[in-house]
Amino acid sequence: MAKQKVVLAYSGGLDTSVCIRYLQVLHDMDVVTVTIDCGQNDDFTEIEKKARSIGAIDHIKIDAKEEFATNFVIASIKANGLYQNKYPLGTALARPLIASKLVEIAHQEAAPNVAHGCTGKGNDQVRFDLSIRAKDPGLKIIAPIRDMNLTRDLEIKFAKEQNIPVTEEAKKYSIDQNIWGRSIEGGNLENAFCEPPIDAFSFVEFDNDSIGQIEMEFQNGIPVAVDGKRMKMVDLIEYLTRLVGSFGVGIVDHIEDRAIGIKSREVYEAPAAIAIIESHKDLEKMVLTNHELRFKAFVEEYWSWLVYSGLWYDPLRRDLDKFIDETQKRVNGKVKLRMHNGSLRVTGRESDYSLYKSDVSGYGASSSFDQALAKGFVELWGLQTVMANAIANRVESKTAG
Ligand code: ARG
Repeated sequence: MAKQKVVLAYSGGLDTSVCIRYLQVLHDMDVVTVTIDCGQNDDFTEIEKKARSIGAIDHIKIDAKEEFATNFVIASIKANGLYQNKYPLGTALARPLIASKLVEIAHQEAAPNVAHGCTGKGNDQVRFDLSIRAKDPGLKIIAPIRDMNLTRDLEIKFAKEQNIPVTEEAKKYSIDQNIWGRSIEGGNLENAFCEPPIDAFSFVEFDNDSIGQIEMEFQNGIPVAVDGKRMKMVDLIEYLTRLVGSFGVGIVDHIEDRAIGIKSREVYEAPAAIAIIESHKDLEKMVLTNHELRFKAFVEEYWSWLVYSGLWYDPLRRDLDKFIDETQKRVNGKVKLRMHNGSLRVTGRESDYSLYKSDVSGYGASSSFDQALAKGFVELWGLQTVMANAIANRVESKTAG
């Protein structure tokens, strides 16, 4: 009888390499590996070789960088996507895209099964499972690492027994990378008090004392040019990753609440994401009304939580995107940034849609603002506060007397 086929999301790392062998041995399946390039800068020829040498019957590589940037990263920029106000969602954004490709390939290959290398402890299992099921609930999902409750140490032991190569980096950290950032877990980092060692990072430089200045231009909420040079989204992100990272900017280190309830210490490196979101937020403050900003902040928090928690394909995310897109029509203009020794600061902004008018807010002679109007406003604004205090004072002096 012919073996059943399974399409495995394969990164070339430890978890997914172990999965190939487990799917063959334990499930007796033909494994087709799929690697989706979201900008992880890996050697894809080596990855294919590795997959085949471990036993994959076929390997498919898809370049999804453009699609990732256009359909996922841009939405996150407009939403100022930061989970718990810190994490730019690099890994979280790529998972639904990878899952959708996995489903496409499973259909092409007429495979009834798909597989991923996620553990049962993280967010990625939630993102993969729910995205796959949103696309095709009929596919069987196999997650060998989770099913067998494997630890990283056991995986390394198994890999060695099975002659599966394990890199030095894999022994230290678990890393996920794409154009929007790099997520680093494991090793020393599990001690929340331990400062991340320099070897955990690959974009950020620590020995550069010079000052960097850039000017970023936005159109409809999307960054389109840096220092007057127009670039395609993927190129712009890659350019900023190197440039901003070279000034030591882009590290995020925080305690995070995973979707499944566990708290974890997370370290990220996302120079482009940090610089772009910081600039985008700043420009929005100039062009959106106070009402829009307050409401959007709430939407952003919810949007980031949805995406983090594996619900990219929930209709609510698309609904929120419609609102966000509407607000972005006026987010046009330029932002100036200054970077030095790991810090980044906005130093200027300008827009044709600016609601900031120096002749209104300024204290100079040319002001067109009639100050007499303010008096009545202040009176009404504090009406209840003043009354409540007057009543409290009256009651207090009565009880004292
Ligand atoms: N905590 C992050 C997230 O849930 C990063 C996960 C990174 N995965 C990894 N294999 N290091 O998105």
